[in-house]
Amino acid sequence: MNSLAIYPGSFDPVTNGHIDIIDKSLGIFDKIVVAIIVNPSKKTLFSIKEREMMLKSIFKDNEKIEIRSFEGLLVDFATLIGADTVIRGLRAVSDFEYEFQMALMNQRLNPKIKSVYLMPSPEFSFISSSIIKEVFFFGGDIAGLVPRGVVEFLEKKREV
Ligand code: COA
Repeated sequence: MNSLAIYPGSFDPVTNGHIDIIDKSLGIFDKIVVAIIVNPSKKTLFSIKEREMMLKSIFKDNEKIEIRSFEGLLVDFATLIGADTVIRGLRAVSDFEYEFQMALMNQRLNPKIKSVYLMPSPEFSFISSSIIKEVFFFGGDIAGLVPRGVVEFLEKKREV
């Protein structure tokens, strides 16, 4: 049976840190669904459509990766698509508390869904989407931290 895992997040925007985790996951699972959360309470720079476009263009040649968006509980969406594993990255000790809380809540909501944590490569362990946006809009260099296509999306926002 093919193993299917879900990698959820806001991806506002996707960074090379996320891509690093996806690449690592591909060594473990047969297929990964990258699931963008539709969360009206989190103010995002990019719309769901834009975030989907970014991710789809990055992974267009990889049939092992599917891009989806979802609303509501993660465990419900995972069940809907037939995934029994949630992948998350653990960048630093500071991520642990939040991730631990989420993993235990997800386990309580649906014990069949397992959480798997992967460590990022050290060169990406300090980045987040917010820090990327801040550095970019203040004119700092983000080359190597996000895919080229994402820089283009960010440039379009600067023009607005
Ligand atoms: N590389 C770079 N940045 C990373 C990263 C990595 N490997 N892993 C996480 N990050 C960053 C993200 O860029 C994001 O940065 P930002 O806050 O500056 O935007 C931050 O870490 C948060 O990560 P993200 O993965 O986007 O998490 P989130 O908190 O927005 O969403 C969900 C996490 C989607 C898994 C969670 O909200 C969820 O499951 N929601 C559904 C509702 C639900 O089921 N709730 C009950 C479960 S408790």
